Amino acid sequence: MELNDCAFPLLKSVKTFSDPVKAFEDIDFALLIGAQPRTKGMERGDLLKKNGEIFSVQGKALNKSAKKSVKVIVVGNPANTNCLIAANNAPSINPENFSAMTRLDHSRGLSQLSTLTGCSVGDIENFAVWGNHSSTQFPSVEHCLIQGRPARQVLAECLKGVETEKYLNETFIPVVQNRGADIIRVRGSSSAASAASACIDHIRDWVNGTSGEWTSMAIHSKGEYGITNGLYFSYPVITGNGNYTIIKDLKFDNNALQRIEKTHKELLDERDSVSSLLK
Ligand code: LMR
Repeated sequence: MELNDCAFPLLKSVKTFSDPVKAFEDIDFALLIGAQPRTKGMERGDLLKKNGEIFSVQGKALNKSAKKSVKVIVVGNPANTNCLIAANNAPSINPENFSAMTRLDHSRGLSQLSTLTGCSVGDIENFAVWGNHSSTQFPSVEHCLIQGRPARQVLAECLKGVETEKYLNETFIPVVQNRGADIIRVRGSSSAASAASACIDHIRDWVNGTSGEWTSMAIHSKGEYGITNGLYFSYPVITGNGNYTIIKDLKFDNNALQRIEKTHKELLDERDSVSSLLK
């Protein structure tokens, strides 16, 4: 009823199914949002087994009935590993057509930077979220520009006495990493409007392109930046013509490299703990 009441110009009809094979017949896009949500005190990884099973069923169903060109976004948590499970269970679909959502973390980072500096989110470029949609993710300002100037320089001017590295390590990064848990604490349930908005932004940008702007998507790694082949890892990407391209050759200091390795390691552990669901 609410979908109809939004009067979306592209909404022709709403159909509901209990059989995913029927639901996914000939589809172009799959927004996999259905999963048991995280509640207070849980880490996303706690949902691994329960939700992993849902995504193996959905992967198999996509494999059977979706178009081979289908574009998939996994939102249900733990999103990166659920995406790995879905893709592994859909061997006839290119694993590059699967993605997990870190756009919400990306938007959270932009919002924090905009609030602190007083700049609009549109003034911020080259911000990126690396790794897992979890509290190990690395929201990185290493290459970020605010109104065309290095983010660290602009932050230093706005921080008034607080050291920039201290702000980044003790405030900015943990706030973005733990924002999902904070929303649950305040609302009593998991993010809804911001997650839906990020999901739409993710698909829209994948299809329409970002015109050279960076965004963050958890995508099938082919070993870029030393990440294990096949993991779904969030990278900075630009999109165009329905494809995404990882931003290459970015340089990092040791602190950043350690953060990337930590989130990589967590994804390896998650992968190992769902090995029974992988083909
Ligand atoms: C979020 O980041 O808000 C969602 O992934 C919900 C959660 O479990 O944190």
